Amino acid sequence: MTIFAKAYRILLQVLCIPVFLSEFFEKQTGAAYGLGFGAKWKLLWTMIRNNRKIVSGSTFMEHITMATSLLKTPPTLEGIVVECGTYKGVSAANLSLVCALVGRRLAIFDCFEGLPEPTAKDQAHTLIGHREIHTYTRGSWCGTLDEVRENIRRYGKLEVCDFHKGYFDKTLPGFNEKCVQIFLDVDYLSSLETCLTYLWPLLQDGCPLYTHESGHLEIAALFFSESWWHNHFASSPPGLVGAGTGLGFKILTGSYFNSNFGFTIKNPARERFTTVPQAEGGMKLSLGSSIKIASQGGQTGAGGRK
Ligand SMILES: C[S@@+](CC[C@H](N)C(=O)[O-])C[C@H]1O[C@@H](n2cnc3c(N)ncnc32)[C@H](O)[C@@H]1O
Repeated sequence: MTIFAKAYRILLQVLCIPVFLSEFFEKQTGAAYGLGFGAKWKLLWTMIRNNRKIVSGSTFMEHITMATSLLKTPPTLEGIVVECGTYKGVSAANLSLVCALVGRRLAIFDCFEGLPEPTAKDQAHTLIGHREIHTYTRGSWCGTLDEVRENIRRYGKLEVCDFHKGYFDKTLPGFNEKCVQIFLDVDYLSSLETCLTYLWPLLQDGCPLYTHESGHLEIAALFFSESWWHNHFASSPPGLVGAGTGLGFKILTGSYFNSNFGFTIKNPARERFTTVPQAEGGMKLSLGSSIKIASQGGQTGAGGRK
C-alpha cells in the first residue's frame, strides 16, 4: 500500500468516527441516568485514554458500542453486566466506568493465566472476511489478577467489579445473576460454548450479547447452529450480527469495513421492528432516498431498499 493510500485510509477512518458515535451522542442515550452531552464527552475521552494506556485486545469503538446499549437499557430492568475474557483489563476498565454511571455491577470472569491449551477444534480458526487463519498457544493473552485489578483501580471503577478467577467451566456453573449485557472475548470456540451454556439463560430478553470473535467462521457458525441451540436450550439459534466480517468499524486494511466485534440479542422485540416490503427494483443505490429513509426512522413503503 502506498503512503498516499495509507494516509487516505487513516483520514477516512477518522472521518467515520462521528458516524460511529452518533447513537452514543443521541439525546435519549443516557437520559434515563441523567447523563448529558458533557458527561458523555468525558466518558468518551476517558475510554480513548484507557485504550492508549492499557495493552488491549479490543478497541474503544467496541467499548463505546457496549456503553451505548447500557446507557439505553431502562434503569428498571434488573441485572448486572458480565465480561468473560479480560486480558490486561482494558475492556473491563471501560465497562466499569459505564457500570458506575448506570448503577450496575460488573462480573469479570477469567483464569488470569492466559489461554488454556487449545483443544482440537481450537487449533486454528478461519477468518475468510479478513483472509486470516488464527492459531493459538497456551498462556498467550495473559493478564494476572493483580495486573487487572491495578489497571481497573487506575483507569476504571474497581468498586463496581467482582472477580471470578478460574477456568469458565469451574466458575460459571455456580453463577446465577440476571444479566443485562454480556461480553465474551474468549478466543476459543470451546470457551465460548461454556460461556453461552451458563450465561444465555441469565440474559434478560431484549438484551445484547457481544462477542469479539464474530469474524471466526467456527464461532460465528455456532450462533446459527440449529442443533446446538435446540440441544442446549430447545430454541432456535439467535444468529449473529457481524458474522464473518464483524461490525464495520475499521477500514485500515482490505476493501471493506470490518472488525472482530459482533452481537446478538436474546428474544428481540420483533413487533417493534420496521416492516420493509421488498419490491422489484429496490437494489439501486440512492443516497437521497437513504437519507430520507434514515430521517424517517427507517420507515419505508413499497419499493424500499434491501
Ligand atoms: C483476547 S483475551 C481478552 C481481551 C480483552 N477483553 C481486551 O479487551 O483486551 C482472551 C482472554 O480469555 C481468557 N480465557 C479464554 N478461555 C478461557 C477459559 N476457558 N477460562 C478462563 N479464561 C479464559 C484468557 O485468559 C484471556 O484473558
